[in-house]
Amino acid sequence: MALSPRFSFLLIYLSVAASLCFAEVRLTEIRDDDRAIIPFDEFGFTHKGRLELNVSRISYSNPLSNSDLSKVGFLLCTRETWLHVFQQLEDGEIQCALDSDMVKPVYTFSALKDGKSFDTLFSETDADQFILLFANCIPKLKVSMDVRSAMYNLDGKSNRRDYLSIGKTVLPRVYFLFSLVYFALAGLWIHVLYKKRLTVFGIHFFMLAVVILKALNLLCEAEDKSYIKRTGTAHGWDVLFYIFNFLKGITLFTLIVLIGTGWSFLKPYLQDKEKKVLMIVIPLQVVANIAQVVIDETGPFGQDWVTWKQVFLLVDVVCCCAVLFPIVWSIKNLREAARTDGKAAVNLMKLTLFRQYYIVVICYIYFTRVVVYALETITSYRYLWTSVVASELATLVFYVFTAYKFKPEAHNPYFVIDDEEEEAAAEALKLEDEFEL
Ligand SMILES: *[C@@H]1O[C@H](CO)[C@@H](O)[C@H](O)[C@H]1NC(C)=O
Repeated sequence: MALSPRFSFLLIYLSVAASLCFAEVRLTEIRDDDRAIIPFDEFGFTHKGRLELNVSRISYSNPLSNSDLSKVGFLLCTRETWLHVFQQLEDGEIQCALDSDMVKPVYTFSALKDGKSFDTLFSETDADQFILLFANCIPKLKVSMDVRSAMYNLDGKSNRRDYLSIGKTVLPRVYFLFSLVYFALAGLWIHVLYKKRLTVFGIHFFMLAVVILKALNLLCEAEDKSYIKRTGTAHGWDVLFYIFNFLKGITLFTLIVLIGTGWSFLKPYLQDKEKKVLMIVIPLQVVANIAQVVIDETGPFGQDWVTWKQVFLLVDVVCCCAVLFPIVWSIKNLREAARTDGKAAVNLMKLTLFRQYYIVVICYIYFTRVVVYALETITSYRYLWTSVVASELATLVFYVFTAYKFKPEAHNPYFVIDDEEEEAAAEALKLEDEFEL
């Protein structure tokens, strides 16, 4: 079939596009497009769902001679039914997706009165996740139009509009709660810094900055999502969110590198190779954030979405690997120092600490990248918020662990140690050496 490459492409597209999209009011310009299927947006409806579609400046590039415009129009269908429709098209049972009795036609162009524009309000009473598609079954017909699509659910009693997909509607509250937790942690940290002010290092102030940025980032995200929930657009909160997201990303990765190198609490300077890691990670974070903005703003069906998603994943993986190097170098140095100089116990404690840190960083990266992605893919559209909660909880645990393990100490255990412990530790080190051999 001539059409099948196009449909297969859409099929791949649909499976790549994670269900992560915040259906908001979306404006899309279509120019001279002859794709048989154009996907627009995806949304989880309740029983009181609405789709508002305002299409204007409709035109066709080739003159329409007795073409049947009922074969051009918008439709809603779920991912599962799309697979069936796709099968029907492949088998030649139907000629056009709009003919299938499994899809819900929203508007066909044969109903156009003036031929240039239309507004329509469609009520969706089946609770499910639907994709809004445009089907054009006239071969070689190129369509141009401006599409404004808004999908929302009506709240139970008040009938207020809720522009967040059913699985995302609690997110503003989730983000707000987490931001409160981080503000509380920042307060606690300031208290600790004040009490232990004699043993505070530069890195501890840096940690404070990271926590505050994380709290502000979550607060903006909560405000952003709550605006989208109420009005369908972000009203500029997304800009603030992107700024703090960017700062948070850079400072968090820098912090992991700095702690990994032992900067300020083991040594006051950075080695050249450690500086190089920072010089790789920081520009990559800039790229990652640009990719993030494009991904969020275009939605999963926008042009270049897949490309930017790949860029983001690649950059993220490189950053995650890069931050592990300084920790590995520190572990190596500490192990050598433990063998050569007399202070085996001191170095062994540091070694244990860095090993723990290494494992926790790996777990954190693995969980927030792989496990959360898997959760996102397997959970039903109604519970999409659970993957956000899982990711934020993991992040919280990571922050708390880092703060606890590297907190300023009145009697710094890394430097003050009595003789007995020293001997015990030297024994342990010997045992460990044998074990490794
Ligand atoms: C879009 O169409 C709906 C339904 O007809 C209408 O109520 C709404 O005012 C229109 N919006 C715009 C921006 O034209």
